[in-house]
Amino acid sequence: MGPNPLKFCEELLCGADLAKGSRVCDLGSGSGITSVMLAREYGFDVYAVDLWSDPAENRAFFRRMGVPDGQIHPVKADAAEGLPFEQQFFDAVVSIDSYNYFRRDPRYLGEKLLPYVKPGGRIYLSIPGMVRDCHDALPACLLASWTPEQLE
Ligand SMILES: C[S@@+](CC[C@H](N)C(=O)[O-])C[C@H]1O[C@@H](n2cnc3c(N)ncnc32)[C@H](O)[C@@H]1O
Repeated sequence: MGPNPLKFCEELLCGADLAKGSRVCDLGSGSGITSVMLAREYGFDVYAVDLWSDPAENRAFFRRMGVPDGQIHPVKADAAEGLPFEQQFFDAVVSIDSYNYFRRDPRYLGEKLLPYVKPGGRIYLSIPGMVRDCHDALPACLLASWTPEQLE
């Protein structure tokens, strides 16, 4: 759904010390292309957690991509409210172009995300941004698609 998610995913995990079979949450997975990558290329047990996408559609996509049902789990959840998993469930969380959507509460990370990661686990975040800040003079081409608040 966002720009270059596979590239972000690959760069995020470059040098990551995560064994095959690790339980990984793809948080804000969208239509699930990175979830497929995490399952197929890295061998993780993947939970594709997203709010706006349809888990049934994502399940059909995962099957078309040849990922076994037991290795990839589409879940609809609002990350801003906390996750529907037991505490310390995940070895890692990967979140690409999504973290900035989970509202901007400074307590979010500590209260709503870290509790679901095992001690010593990892959180990998990637958020695409602009090369130069342009918030004082937003270009018309951006304002054609987004409001100033969304750009903020
Ligand atoms: C720009 S898309 C990125 C999707 C995907 N990671 C990619 O890079 O293609 C942002 C994603 O964040 C998800 N999202 C937004 N708010 C969310 C929330 N509160 N909880 C879970 N997912 C959320 C949306 O469903 C959407 O799929």
